[in-house]
Amino acid sequence: MTVHFIGAGPGAPDLLTLRGRDIIAASPVCLYAGSLVPEAVLDHCPEGAKIINTAPMDLDAIIAECEAAHRAGQDVARLHSGDLSVWSAMGEQIRRLEAAGIPYTVTPGVPSFAAAAATLGTELTLPGVAQSVVLTRTPGRASSMPDGETLANFGRTGATLALHLSIGNLERSVDELIPHYGADCPVAVVYRASWPDEKIIRATLGTVAENIDASISRTALILVGRALAQEGFAESRLYAADYDRRYRPQTADSPWSEWQHGDD
Ligand SMILES: C[S@@+](CC[C@H](N)C(=O)[O-])C[C@H]1O[C@@H](n2cnc3c(N)ncnc32)[C@H](O)[C@@H]1O
Repeated sequence: MTVHFIGAGPGAPDLLTLRGRDIIAASPVCLYAGSLVPEAVLDHCPEGAKIINTAPMDLDAIIAECEAAHRAGQDVARLHSGDLSVWSAMGEQIRRLEAAGIPYTVTPGVPSFAAAAATLGTELTLPGVAQSVVLTRTPGRASSMPDGETLANFGRTGATLALHLSIGNLERSVDELIPHYGADCPVAVVYRASWPDEKIIRATLGTVAENIDASISRTALILVGRALAQEGFAESRLYAADYDRRYRPQTADSPWSEWQHGDD
C-alpha cells in the first residue's frame, strides 16, 4: 500500500500528467484538495472508489484516512492543485506518513505559474532582461514570511516575480515593488489560468490596482517584470546560425561546449 501524492495541475482536467491519471485509475481511495482540484479529474477514479474532499478536514483527519487505507491495504491517490513542490502542504503530510511507516510516491504536476505564462503566451526569462523567476507570496492570515523574503529584496534583483496567494495584498505589493521596478513595469494578473472562467488583466505596476475588480478575489497569479513586455531583448545564442555547439558543430574539429540556455 502506498500514498501517491499527485500534482493535479492548474485547473484544466487535461493538464494532468499521464502518470497521475494512471495512478488515480489504479487507486481505490482518492483524497483531493477540493478548493482547487478540478472535479473532472476524479472521473479517472475506478468505479466504487472512496473519494474524499479534504478541503474541510484537518491534518489529523487526513492522516487518519491514510492510516485506514494502509490497514486495508489500499493505495491512496492524494491530489493537490498545480505542482506539489510549492504551497501544497505535502511536506507536513509526508512527515506524518514517515512517522507512521506508510510509503509514499510523488508525481509532479503543471504548476499554476507555468499555466499562467502559457495563457499569456509569454516566456518569463528573456536574454538580457530577466534570467530568473521568483516564485513567492506575501504574508497571509495564517502565514508570515521568513525574514529576508521581502518583495523589496526580490525586487532589487529585477527578476520576474510570480506572486501567489497575494491578490488580496495587491495594493501593498505594488507600493513595495514600484521603487524597484518602476511604475511603468508590466504586470499581468491571471485569474484561474486554464479554467473556463479564466481572466487576464494586463497593466503596469502604476495602473494594476485600478484595473482589478471584485470578481478577482482569489486563485490569481500576479506576474511582474520587464520580461512581460516581450520586447527589447536580444535573440539567444541557442539558435544563432554561427553558434558552434554540440548538436550543430560549425567545423569538423569543433571544440563545442554545451549551451545551457534552452531545451535543444
Ligand atoms: C495553495 S497555492 C497552490 C499552488 C500550486 N501548488 C501550484 O503549483 O501552483 C494557491 C495559489 O496558487 C495560485 N493558483 C493556483 N491555481 C491557479 C490558477 N489556475 N490560476 C492562477 N493562479 C493559480 C494562486 O495564487 C493561488 O492563490
